[in-house]
Formats: sequence, structure tokens, C-alpha cells
Amino acid sequence: MHPPAAEGAEPHAADAAAGPARHAAPAPAADDRLALRAALGRYATGVTIITCRNAAGLPVGLTANSFSALSLDPPLVLWSLRRASSALANFAAAPVFAVNVLSEAQVELSRRFASREADKFAQGVWRDGLGGAPLLEGSTATFECRLVSQQAAGDHVLFIGEVLHHRHDADEPALAFHAGHYHAVGERL
Ligand SMILES: Cc1cc2nc3c(=O)[nH]c(=O)nc-3n(C[C@H](O)[C@H](O)[C@H](O)COP(=O)(O)O)c2cc1C
Repeated sequence: MHPPAAEGAEPHAADAAAGPARHAAPAPAADDRLALRAALGRYATGVTIITCRNAAGLPVGLTANSFSALSLDPPLVLWSLRRASSALANFAAAPVFAVNVLSEAQVELSRRFASREADKFAQGVWRDGLGGAPLLEGSTATFECRLVSQQAAGDHVLFIGEVLHHRHDADEPALAFHAGHYHAVGERL
């Protein structure tokens, strides 16, 4: 589970694509939020770096574990981005994004792309994919996606992409994230 969004996030470009009116439910107490976060963290995930190219031609990317498969026919995937993220306007405007599913060997890159490091792409071997979205060498899978939907949802924006191209490497073990920590995927049961 990624860190909760800061409260009182500024309005942003994705608001224009928002669906129905936002919920007016009272903010949960801090204890409830911690307990919810801990409960959600029991759900083990993989780890991705999701990238795009912004209007100025610069690469943009962040570590995300909200990625999920959505549909096989048509091929759709989803992920969500904090409304307060500095990357929001870039992903909201980019017609294409790429999902790099990290391998165990890429845990340091995961930490780097979860930070505010200025030049995140200075580490790792990258090449341009569709729409210039950066693809990471050594990732266990890659999905290049056309953005088909974006929708404000609570303190996040939900992005849905159509998979235009994908590849995977079954010999690269995937990096896992569980209960706030990185893990190697264990034995097959
Ligand atoms: C394992 C892990 C998973 C994360 N998943 C997400 C995610 O799905 N969505 C998100 O908005 N932030 C996620 N984050 C946090 C972002 O990586 C982080 O906030 C961002 O890189 C910092 O830059 P920003 O705040 O300017 O966007 C995750 C962080 C970690 C360590």
C-alpha cells in the first residue's frame, strides 16, 4: 500500500475528467487511517515503475503498487496516482504510459522512484517505448498502454490503459511488496 495522500490536496487538471460529485464523507480519524493502511498492506503486490513523457519531452516516473490487471478482452490495466503527486498533471496529459514490473534486482530503483530525487532516470538502463514512455531493461514484464480513462476517486486518480504492447521475462523473479516491506517471491506452493 503506498503512502496515503496529503490532506487538502490542491485541485488539479484531472478534475476536469472527474465523474460524479466528490463524496462529502467526514475524514476518518488518524487511528482509523493507520489501521486501514495496515489492513490494506496485508494484500501482497508486485512493484512497478510507471512512466510517461511530458509535454516538454522529459521522462516522468514513479514507483507504484496500485497496478492491476483489469480486462483481457479488450486488454486493460489500471493504476492510481495520488492527487497530490507532482506527476499528476503529466500523467493526466500523456496519451501513453508504460508499466515496468520490477524484478528482485531492481529494489534500489524502486526506492529511487518513490523518492523526490530530481533526476530519477540517472540510474537504470532506459530506452524509449511508445509515445516516448521510458522502458526499463531487466524488468520482469512491461506493458505499454494508451490512456483510455482517468477518473478522480477520493484522494487518488484512477488511470485505465489499453495494452498496446507487452513483453515478459519468466527468468527474472518479480519483486514483491507486503506489509510495508520489499520481499523476494517465495516458494511455489
Ligand atoms: C512500494 C510503493 C508503492 C507505491 N505505490 C504508489 C501508487 O500506486 N500510487 C501513488 O500515487 N504513489 C505510490 N507510491 C508513492 C510514490 O512512489 C511517491 O509518492 C512518489 O514517487 C513521490 O513523488 P511525488 O510525491 O512528487 O509524486 C508508492 C511508493 C512505494 C514505496
